[in-house]
Amino acid sequence: MKKKFKYPLMRNNIIKSDIQKLISFLKKNNILTQNKEVLKFEQMWSRWLGTKYSVFVNSGSSANLLSIQLLKIKYPQGGEIIVPPLTWSSDVSSIIHCGFKPVFADIDLETLGMNTEKIISKINKNTRAVFLSYIQGFNCLSDKLIKHLKKKNIYLIEDVCESHGAKHRNKKLGTFGWTSNFSFYYAHHMSTIEGGMICTNDKNTYYDLLMLRSHGMIREVKDTNFQRLMKKKYKDLNSKFIFYHSAYNVRNTEIGAIIGQSQIKRLNSNINKRNSNLLFFLKNLDKDKYFVNFNTIGQSNYAFNLILKKADKLFMKKLMHTLDRYGIEFRLGSAGGGNQLRQPYLKNIVSKTQARKFKNTEHIHFYGLYIGNHPNLSKKEILFITKVLNEGVK
Ligand SMILES: Cc1ncc(COP(=O)(O)O)c(C=O)c1O
Repeated sequence: MKKKFKYPLMRNNIIKSDIQKLISFLKKNNILTQNKEVLKFEQMWSRWLGTKYSVFVNSGSSANLLSIQLLKIKYPQGGEIIVPPLTWSSDVSSIIHCGFKPVFADIDLETLGMNTEKIISKINKNTRAVFLSYIQGFNCLSDKLIKHLKKKNIYLIEDVCESHGAKHRNKKLGTFGWTSNFSFYYAHHMSTIEGGMICTNDKNTYYDLLMLRSHGMIREVKDTNFQRLMKKKYKDLNSKFIFYHSAYNVRNTEIGAIIGQSQIKRLNSNINKRNSNLLFFLKNLDKDKYFVNFNTIGQSNYAFNLILKKADKLFMKKLMHTLDRYGIEFRLGSAGGGNQLRQPYLKNIVSKTQARKFKNTEHIHFYGLYIGNHPNLSKKEILFITKVLNEGVK
C-alpha cells in the first residue's frame, strides 16, 4: 500500500474526462492492441511537438532503448556516448546493453543538465552521440553544442522524459536532435498510465523505429514501395515474417492512446500552471538556505528542486524529517536518485572514486531532493510549503 501524503509528488493526473473517453471507446468493442488510435495519437503528438514522426511505445525507457538501438544500426562496432551522471538509469543502461561505452560529463546547477564545455572536452574520434537529459523541465541545450555536433557529425539524442514543452530559443526541446524521447509515466507532464514516445524528422529513421518497436518486422512499415523491395530481396521468407532488425516488442495499446489523446488537449495549460507555480515557489524560498538561481528561460517545470546552498549534513537530515512531519512527499538526489555512478548496476563499469569527480552531481546527490509541483497545487499551498521550508526546519 502506498503511503498517503498531504502534498504528494502528483495529484489526479488521469481525470474523470479521460476515463469517460476510455469507457465510451471500450463500449464500442474496438481492437485494443496497437491500431488506429495509436497512429492518431502519434500524429497529434507530432503536431504538438513540431516533428514529422512519432512512435508511441510502452515507456520512456523503451524510447531510450530504441534511440540507442538505432545508433547501433549506424555503428555496429560500438563507440562512446556522452551522457550525464544525473539522469535516469535507462539512459545509461541502454548504452551498455547496446554495446557502447558511457562517457560522463558533469552538469550545471542552473540547468541540472550537462555543461556544454564539459561535453565538448569529452568528444574524441570514438564519440558517436551526445545523449542529453533535460532534467526537471530545464533547458541545457546551447547553440554552441548544436553547432559543434553538426560540425563533428555526432548525433544528438534528446531525453525529454521530464521536460515536455520546455524550449530552446522558443522552439520545443525534442525537435533539435536526431531522435527525442518522452515518458508518459504517472507523475510526468501528461500520462498514458505507462508510455513513451520517440520522435524524429528523418523518414528512414522512422521506418527503423516502427520495426524496432515491433519485433524488428518489416510489415510494420506501411509503405508499399518499401514492402515490395523487401519482398523481392527476401524471396525465401514469408513477407509477414521478415525480421529485419533484432528487436523486441515495446508497443503500447489503444487504451494508452485514447488517454493520451484526451490528455494532450490540456497539456499546454498544465505546463503554464506548473511554470507559474515554480516561479512563485522560487520567489518565496529562502535564498540563503536553498539554491534558487535556476535558468528558468524556456523551462517546463516537472518538480520543485530543493538544493542546499551549503553542504550541510545536519540541515539535510532535519529537512527530511520536516518534510515527513508535514506529509510532503520527496525524492532524494533529484532525477533518478542522484549520481548514477554510485549505483550498483554500474559497479563493473565505473568506480566510486570516479563518482566523486562530478562535483555538481555529487552535491545534488547528497544535498538535493525534489517535491511535487502539479497543476492543482494552489498558491496558498505553495506559500505554506515554503514557510515550512524556510522556518520549520528544526
Ligand atoms: C530523464 C528520464 N528518462 C527516462 C525515464 C524513463 O521513463 P519511464 O518511467 O516511462 O520508463 C525517466 C523516468 O522518469 C526519466 O526521468
